Amino acid sequence: MNKRVLLVIGGGIAAYKSLELIRRLKETGADVRVVMTKAAQHFVTPLAAGALVGERVFTDLFDQAQEFDVGHIRLARECDLIVVTPATADLMAKMANGLADDLASAVLLATDKPILLAPAMNPHMWANAATQRNLEVLRADGRAFVGPNEGEMAERGERGFGRMAEPEEIRDACLALLSDGPLKGKKAIVTAGPTVEALDPVRFLSNRSSGKQGYAIASALAQLGANVTLVSGPTALATPAGVKVKRIESARDMLSACEDALPADVAVMVAAVADWRPSKTAKKKIKKGDAASAVELTENPDILATLSKLTKKRPALVIGFAAETDNVEANARVKIAKKGCDWIVANDVSGDVMGGNDNQVMLITRDAAQSWPRMSKDLVAQKLASEIAEALKGKATRRK
Ligand code: C5P
Repeated sequence: MNKRVLLVIGGGIAAYKSLELIRRLKETGADVRVVMTKAAQHFVTPLAAGALVGERVFTDLFDQAQEFDVGHIRLARECDLIVVTPATADLMAKMANGLADDLASAVLLATDKPILLAPAMNPHMWANAATQRNLEVLRADGRAFVGPNEGEMAERGERGFGRMAEPEEIRDACLALLSDGPLKGKKAIVTAGPTVEALDPVRFLSNRSSGKQGYAIASALAQLGANVTLVSGPTALATPAGVKVKRIESARDMLSACEDALPADVAVMVAAVADWRPSKTAKKKIKKGDAASAVELTENPDILATLSKLTKKRPALVIGFAAETDNVEANARVKIAKKGCDWIVANDVSGDVMGGNDNQVMLITRDAAQSWPRMSKDLVAQKLASEIAEALKGKATRRK
């Protein structure tokens, strides 16, 4: 792979894994350039990183020689991807607020290239409201994330979320973002997980969807080079590498997040959208004595049908999911006609598919049907992503 990666090493103990990442990236044939923050140099030396990349490492915004030689603007532009390892709480805060008082943050502000962050910090710093706010801002700015993972911390006896993703995972996330795959330049919208429909500030109607299949599809599409927006209800899953996530709760918010993400070439609606919502959401907690014997419900918008029936911005390919227990193909054909979508992926949910890691599906298009053997949700996602790539081949890409 003949791509240029700019690696920004931040100041945290996980910086040592950045050296391993340089090796893993170079093995793919990528050209790697390194910028280190001042704090990073307490953990690894520019000499070590420089020896691995085979050229000088850039550290200083105000060094006349370095600025004259390459300069922060060229560093920001002469690459295909910037990856930040570790993305410390401090670097995330600076990026979220557009600060640029050192070389690393100036490069990150000046670039127009994709940025991948691999956060690493103490679990308390990660959980801190300020860090979580910055995370949301960065996600909304389209920054990609890999990790953090859950596990043992450098501090003795500490465990939790905050461990940096392993170098191989970060390399794979880089490859997904750099991919010249068959979906490069194509835009995808994927919905996943349950929706949550509030009854009052503490109670809601929802379902047990885990989001696993939808997240796997978003990830598989990104691996083939698509620009993916995942609109997700609450799940316990980590954001897939190279995917933009919009987190929502209600069906109505899911629909507007999908509409905001248009235009797109393909929409894959995997979410288990609640068919109804409480007609009224009480502003205050409903008291035991006040509870009516029945909750009045209103039908939610059908997101799949709405996107399928758009006249101007309809994605070239709209795919729905269907959970069926019998007459799978016949019922799916009825659903294609009713919703106006192009394909239905029909799950046979008579077994242990819900919440599990395996799935058994039929792919039903307007004029054909394939029955796939039982396989992991990841494999279903990869197979579906290649079918999508095949179907979009030669189709004009949607522009604004
Ligand atoms: O009608 P049914 O719920 O069986 O259809 C399932 C398909 O429709 C799934 O793709 C699901 O994501 C989508 N759907 C939707 N909005 C709804 C209900 C279902 O997008 N309100």
